[in-house]
Amino acid sequence: MGKLSALLSLSAFTPFALCNYEIVRTPSNGLRILDGNTTLVDNAAILAGGQNTTVSPIDNSTSSLAYNFITPSVAKITINSSYAFIGAKFSSASNAHFFGVWEYPFNNRIDNRNVSFDLKGVGNNVGINWANARAPFFMSSDGYGVYTDTLKMGSYDFATPNEAQFIFNSSSLVYYIILPKESQTLTQASTEGGLKSVIEQYTALSARSEMPPTSGFGPTYWSDDFTRDFHGDVSNAAENIQDVVNHLYYNRIRATSTFADRPYGTGNQSWGNFDFNPVQYPDPEGFIGNLTDYGFDFQVWIANRAQIGTKLYNDSLENGWLFPDFHPLGGLGEALDLNIPEAYRYFEEQLAYFPRIGVRGYKIDRGEEGEVPVYAQNEQMSLFTALAYQTMVSKFGKSGFYTFARSAVDRSRAHTHIWNGDSHADFTGLAYSVASGIRAGLISFGLWGSDTGGYTRAGELSPSPLTWGRWMWFSALSPVYELMLGTNHTPWYPPYDNTSTLDVMKQTANLHADLTPFIKSYAYQSSKTGLPIMRALFLEAPADTNSVVWESGDSYFFGEEFLVAPIVTEGNVRSVYFPTGPSAKYLEYFEKKTIYDAGTTANVTADLTSMPVFVKQGAIVPRGDIFQGNAKWIEDWTPKLRMELFPSYDVPVSTFKYYDGEGSEGTEYLITLTTDKAKQIIQLDLGGLKTEGLEIVWYLRSGSRIMTEKQALEQGLVVNGAETLF
Ligand SMILES: *[C@@H]1O[C@H](CO)[C@@H](O)[C@H](O)[C@H]1NC(C)=O
Ligand SMILES: *[C@@H]1O[C@H](CO)[C@@H](O)[C@H](O)[C@H]1NC(C)=O
Ligand SMILES: *[C@@H]1O[C@H](CO)[C@@H](O)[C@H](O)[C@H]1NC(C)=O
Ligand SMILES: *[C@@H]1O[C@H](CO)[C@@H](O)[C@H](O)[C@H]1NC(C)=O
Ligand SMILES: *[C@@H]1O[C@H](CO)[C@@H](O)[C@H](O)[C@H]1NC(C)=O
Ligand SMILES: *[C@@H]1O[C@H](CO)[C@@H](O)[C@H](O)[C@H]1NC(C)=O
Ligand SMILES: *[C@@H]1O[C@H](CO)[C@@H](O)[C@H](O)[C@H]1NC(C)=O
Ligand SMILES: *[C@@H]1O[C@H](CO)[C@@H](O)[C@H](O)[C@H]1NC(C)=O
Ligand SMILES: *[C@@H]1O[C@H](CO)[C@@H](O)[C@H](O)[C@H]1NC(C)=O
Ligand SMILES: *[C@@H]1O[C@H](CO)[C@@H](O)[C@H](O)[C@H]1NC(C)=O
Ligand SMILES: *[C@@H]1O[C@H](CO)[C@@H](O)[C@H](O)[C@H]1NC(C)=O
Repeated sequence: MGKLSALLSLSAFTPFALCNYEIVRTPSNGLRILDGNTTLVDNAAILAGGQNTTVSPIDNSTSSLAYNFITPSVAKITINSSYAFIGAKFSSASNAHFFGVWEYPFNNRIDNRNVSFDLKGVGNNVGINWANARAPFFMSSDGYGVYTDTLKMGSYDFATPNEAQFIFNSSSLVYYIILPKESQTLTQASTEGGLKSVIEQYTALSARSEMPPTSGFGPTYWSDDFTRDFHGDVSNAAENIQDVVNHLYYNRIRATSTFADRPYGTGNQSWGNFDFNPVQYPDPEGFIGNLTDYGFDFQVWIANRAQIGTKLYNDSLENGWLFPDFHPLGGLGEALDLNIPEAYRYFEEQLAYFPRIGVRGYKIDRGEEGEVPVYAQNEQMSLFTALAYQTMVSKFGKSGFYTFARSAVDRSRAHTHIWNGDSHADFTGLAYSVASGIRAGLISFGLWGSDTGGYTRAGELSPSPLTWGRWMWFSALSPVYELMLGTNHTPWYPPYDNTSTLDVMKQTANLHADLTPFIKSYAYQSSKTGLPIMRALFLEAPADTNSVVWESGDSYFFGEEFLVAPIVTEGNVRSVYFPTGPSAKYLEYFEKKTIYDAGTTANVTADLTSMPVFVKQGAIVPRGDIFQGNAKWIEDWTPKLRMELFPSYDVPVSTFKYYDGEGSEGTEYLITLTTDKAKQIIQLDLGGLKTEGLEIVWYLRSGSRIMTEKQALEQGLVVNGAETLF
């Protein structure tokens, strides 16, 4: 089978590119996957042992092994053993990169070089505390992935160069070796081949994120403690949230939701009685009703932890639901063992209070902070996200609410989206957050956001206006924009009297809101394919051999159209590499003047009114005001969609799958932009999308040409004789 040229149209060749992988057992009880004479995967050893520190290659008397291809490109391996721990080792002949497993970017890297850690929450670490999405799934730059289908505790070891090893606390194990759907097409960026198709097949075996309501993308503003930091007439938490709502309104800053972190309830540490503190929220139902009228969804903090003195604790103690002989020190509280069906049902019933009064989603905290024994973290966290999800689905249906967690494992992505935990309010925190967002995408937690400006703050003016501004820009070009304010960190209150911070917040939040049509379309794709919105460069540019493509933790593709390079250090300059493959040229997106050639590196500058973002030749970018949220200042609001087009005669055809809908109810339209260099014709096909309220913007050498709905109907979606920008 020949290697397909990346230049050829993929679909035309699909019938000839079907793979013909073969799996063989080696004399030393390892496995190999071959494609013809080429070894694609060297599963050098299958391991078993009485402890996770004493494993050795399996022998036939203590372990049984079965393996077969369940699809042409997915091999399933099953091992049963009389030993308590089972694992596997993979070797690479080349200088391989291994990706996946953890969201947390150890050593600020997107790959796992030198990392050896359990499949558990990471805890406090450089840049971010508790960036804890994880999955028993890794990918190799050699062009395959391995998914181990278990919630048992385990460890992954990438400390030996060109080796990947995992061991799980289980005497039977099923794992899958996932190959590109098409043989030897690693260099293709299409989901038909390459590592994109590995992610697609992995998530087909495990689970994919659900489509959120549009409000889930944000902007979302919240406070770590709305019961403090009162200004003006404000005297309780509900009024404090109202004060935020008012300031957003008068400053014309877009928002779609807000949420109450702790404290908001009664009881020890405010959690465990399933209520709102009546002093702070005198009429929670009326208050949430008002927020709904103002265009805000409202969520609350929850966790599987029972503080002494609360209803949750008393009931659990009486029924024996707490982990026996496991009493974490300090104020954390104990956890219920959710494997006990009564405990699970009880928790679900208690939580149902929140959706009943209009709370649309949860911020799920903890679960990896010592409340449960480490070996049970993954099982317990999965159970908790599942029961929380069920309470919301019962009331609002799938896609009718937005829940996000910091600790989430594998299939839980179908029950919760994530945020990256407690990032530090400095440039290290920002840099690690960008890398963790890219990593979250590689384990298919696609709907992701970070606490804009950082969570862990250090004194006055922390984050600095510069750090905060840079982070706001990054969040604008993140799947979810969420920002913590309050307790001396509100852009319109001192010490942030520097109006530039408020200006940057307004500019970036409104940009994010205007990108909703684009982001939502990719979220819909993600719910169908598992592919993230924030993408490591190699997912889009797999044929580029420049190491930056495999290693950059501070630049990413946002969908397929944008290359984004946030500034994550002091100063206003950074170096950007423009990958080859996705586009021959990249246009600076905001000014639309400077063009960069693929394969080059440039130093780019940006002050706080901008950030380095580049758009591909031929890009179709749907933008506009399609979700009102809090924008009640706009009278007779109607949705307005704007289709930005970046034609190039060097790109004969480009497409965009535009998703028009709310939650999972909607329609996908294939938008197609074609150019004919010889005849100098550029044409757009909307694939059946109505032009009502639609504006088309053609970016051409002569400037932008705007076509209204009326003009489009009269003239057709055609531009003749124009010079293209690039
Ligand atoms: C495998 O290698 C052998 C010996 O080099 C060669 O004869 C055969 O054609 C090869 N097969 C394939 C499928 O490439
Ligand atoms: C183990 O079993 C496999 C499959 O039955 C066989 O091919 C292999 O030779 C056996 N190995 C040993 C050491 O007996
Ligand atoms: C492993 O055990 C499971 C459950 O008992 C069984 O279904 C499976 O066939 C066994 N597989 C092998 C390879 O022994
Ligand atoms: C791996 O870790 C070791 C020990 O901490 C360190 O000396 C080495 O430089 C690291 N290598 C890489 C590639 O990060
Ligand atoms: C063995 O398990 C313990 C407990 O989960 C863990 O801390 C350790 O990292 C594991 N070691 C290996 C080599 O997997
Ligand atoms: C393995 O799991 C069991 C529970 O199934 C637990 O008791 C034991 O401590 C775990 N071992 C390690 C090393 O984590
Ligand atoms: C809801 O809004 C109305 C009108 O602004 C106000 O009078 C009322 O106090 C609000 N209710 C709550 C519970 O906040
Ligand atoms: C609150 O809960 C923590 C943890 O359960 C406990 O240590 C503390 O004593 C409790 N405080 C009160 C006042 O009950
Ligand atoms: C839980 O039990 C303690 C001790 O009996 C009691 O003081 C407390 O009021 C109970 N909590 C609730 C919410 O009933
Ligand atoms: C406001 O903040 C920006 C960014 O840190 C800084 O460049 C500017 O000098 C500040 N202006 C004032 C008046 O402090
Ligand atoms: C970017 O700036 C650095 C520092 O001034 C310089 O060393 C480097 O050569 C520049 N790179 C490019 C591509 O201009």
